[in-house]
Amino acid sequence: MPYVELRHSSGARLEVYLHGAHVTSWKNSGGREMFFVSKKSFFRPDTPIRGGIPVIFPQFGDGPLPKHGFARISEWTFLGAESAADGCLEAKFELRHSQESIKIWPHQFRLELVFRLGIDVLEIVFSVHNAGLSEFTFKNGLHTYFAAGDITGTNLEGLDGCKFIDFLSDPRPCLETRKNIDFACETDRVYPMAPDRLLLRHGAEGDAVIIEKQDMRDVVVWNPWIEKSMRMDDFGDDEYKNMVCVETGNLHENLTLLPGKTHISSSRFLKIAAGRGQ
Ligand code: BG6
Repeated sequence: MPYVELRHSSGARLEVYLHGAHVTSWKNSGGREMFFVSKKSFFRPDTPIRGGIPVIFPQFGDGPLPKHGFARISEWTFLGAESAADGCLEAKFELRHSQESIKIWPHQFRLELVFRLGIDVLEIVFSVHNAGLSEFTFKNGLHTYFAAGDITGTNLEGLDGCKFIDFLSDPRPCLETRKNIDFACETDRVYPMAPDRLLLRHGAEGDAVIIEKQDMRDVVVWNPWIEKSMRMDDFGDDEYKNMVCVETGNLHENLTLLPGKTHISSSRFLKIAAGRGQ
């Protein structure tokens, strides 16, 4: 399947498939892969790629539409790439409503994703435009799979004191009390209205990543652990050890977009050196 590769002068690389405008690889300037993609992922038009950054729109999770919406299984248009004044390489992708999308979601829209690759930084700007004559509601987000050398050494900082809803148990909100969230079992939670800056650490050896977001209200943290991994056809039984999803977006409650209006949100991932932020 066709993809676009951005090569930054620092050595950083980014790979984006037209299928889903799906990032499958971000290599930092030192050549280290920052994202996880399953060795068992299907690269097929009817299924999402397992790993990288699936794009969520207009539904999160299960519902009347395909799970997590149709954007991640749609063929996007590459609009071109250029160097920006700040030294980043920028690539733009677009998805518009089609006869097929209108059949399952009766709204006219235009989505634009701009990927901005710099020295050890990746920024993604997500625009949703209502091109129709009536309002619509939607959720949107970036379902990012970060690579973890060993999940038992990975932790996520920045969510202590936040409310969360655990998709695996009681739907009532609970309070996160851990400064550093670590992973020792299946994890599947939404933190509504989460802070805009988190730190993902991969032990003393792996690079750490600062995750920033703007106008993306919520964070979902997911690791399938052993049993769910074994149930997934496109995911290796042991691969839960090598990934964690930290998803940024408007994932908890729908947003409403009036006709002619555009909603713009973004996430930024900044690699910092191993051991920093310990
Ligand atoms: C997460 C959900 O966002 O995505 C999980 O909270 C889900 O419940 C996971 O299992 C993966 O979803 P999918 O459709 O890509 O297998």
